[in-house]
Amino acid sequence: MKLIIAVIKPSRLDAVLDAVTGAGASGLTVTEVRGYGRQRGKTEVYRGAEYEVKLLPKVKLEIAVPSDIVEAVIEAITLSANTNKIGDGKIFVLDLERTLRIRTGEENDAAIAG
Ligand SMILES: Nc1ncnc2c1ncn2[C@@H]1O[C@H](COP(=O)(O)OP(=O)(O)OP(=O)(O)O)[C@@H](O)[C@H]1O
Ligand SMILES: [Mg+2]
Repeated sequence: MKLIIAVIKPSRLDAVLDAVTGAGASGLTVTEVRGYGRQRGKTEVYRGAEYEVKLLPKVKLEIAVPSDIVEAVIEAITLSANTNKIGDGKIFVLDLERTLRIRTGEENDAAIAG
């Protein structure tokens, strides 16, 4: 299992949700965050206005996935989040040691299967 963390542009959220669901992700967590990459937020435009501050609004997705759909979910995010402009975001992939579905006690792949 992997935990895929993606930081994307807020304007791409709906498209990314559709894409990762299509790729087989059974659940996810979304958080509104702020951040910057290598431009330190300086030259990015958000909703038409260049931001004075360095921290730009982003959306963070956390998606726990069984190993067999990791690549499909990564590809789905990459394609759907891409506007071909700076600030499109990053994907981090972490090994996931254990998952439990609280209601049933199911673990690991059974706990994150759709
Ligand atoms: N090294 C990092 N560690 C943690 N979060 C990061 C890192 N780099 C980027 N992020 C997060 O991802 C968001 C988007 O980053 P961004 O796409 O600007 O990366 P970049 O490396 O500057 O690429 P680009 O040149 O395409 O802008 C940032 O606002 C920040 O929230
Ligand atoms: Mg950047």
